Amino acid sequence: MAARLIQKILKSIGVNTSRFGQERLTDSTVHVKVSTAPTSARGFASGSRKVTLIPGDGIGPEISAAVQKIFTTANVPIEWESVDVTPVMGPDGKYGIPQAAIDSVNTNKIGLKGPLMTPVGKGHRSLNLALRKEFNLYANVRPCRSLEGYKTLYDDVDVVTIRENTEGEYSGIEHEIVDGVVQSIKLITEEASKRVAEYAFQYAKANNRKKVTVVHKANIMRMSDGLFLRCARDMAEKYPEIQFEERYLDTVCLNMVQDPKKYDVLVMPNLYGDILSDMCAGLVGGLGLTPSGNMGLNGALFESVHGTAPDIAGKDLANPTALLLSAVMMLRHMELNEHADKIQHACFEVIKEGKHLTGDLGGKAKCSEFTNEICGKL
Ligand code: IPM
Ligand code: MG
Repeated sequence: MAARLIQKILKSIGVNTSRFGQERLTDSTVHVKVSTAPTSARGFASGSRKVTLIPGDGIGPEISAAVQKIFTTANVPIEWESVDVTPVMGPDGKYGIPQAAIDSVNTNKIGLKGPLMTPVGKGHRSLNLALRKEFNLYANVRPCRSLEGYKTLYDDVDVVTIRENTEGEYSGIEHEIVDGVVQSIKLITEEASKRVAEYAFQYAKANNRKKVTVVHKANIMRMSDGLFLRCARDMAEKYPEIQFEERYLDTVCLNMVQDPKKYDVLVMPNLYGDILSDMCAGLVGGLGLTPSGNMGLNGALFESVHGTAPDIAGKDLANPTALLLSAVMMLRHMELNEHADKIQHACFEVIKEGKHLTGDLGGKAKCSEFTNEICGKL
């Protein structure tokens, strides 16, 4: 078992273990085959403005259609390439993402993704994670800002969580030691910790942010979070113009709900980022309003963070804002800033007016009515 475990750990940090000649792994991971051919860091800059669209499950197709309609109305110069990522069985008997979807992301280097259904505690690994891991989308960026006109307990929230997106508690390395005893491995590498720390400081610099807080529990997980923390400290030295602080995760949760203004940009390991980004979203109105971007060296995938909402799927009741704001983030990444500003402004105006809000925001409007209002403002 020890050999198998070592093999799993090596594999999850990208070391090819086939030369060890051991039994093939039989976990239920979805394997995404991604070509590693070198490409320009920003493939879209070559003139092609094709964007891969993964509409997703549940409400995914209707909110994707809403975003497409708004983009068409705003004359955004992109062409959507819609793909289905439902796993298919390959010749080796393993389930994986269809080749056409992989090729599309590899070629376009940029994508927008609706929610994908994740089986709970069984079946294949979350496709959301498979996409992040296999396209090496190492930093997950989630800005949370208070929206004018949509009242929550907090005004003036303006924080950005930057989450390590490929390892940590999400490494997926779990096993049963004996009956009734299971173990899950939190994997932290210097490489992934450094690159996400670097991303956080670069983000802060590029976006005129003042401070980066590294969020950790190195008092408890002294080696794993200790390494993450050290990498953040080292990186901070290279960015003297950005203020740097270290805080425990529990302290950040406490302070965040007491006074969110204490924070600016936060960087942290995977699971902490998952939880803290939901908490921050809660401060400004929930997951239906907050965008997210998965950033990699060879591409980026923008996504809504909320679930598939099967109870309202197909009923024209969903709120497309989170996916729309993720698409706006995508436009900024593509340096289509004018279009981004215009669409964001129209969306915020409709929310501010409060006359055509969807059910999750306390209104009665259908998804299509909300969408049409935004189009009307463009
Ligand atoms: C998120 C989601 C995902 C995660 C789920 C859908 C796998 O909660 O993007 O935050 O846990 O990362
Ligand atoms: Mg989450």
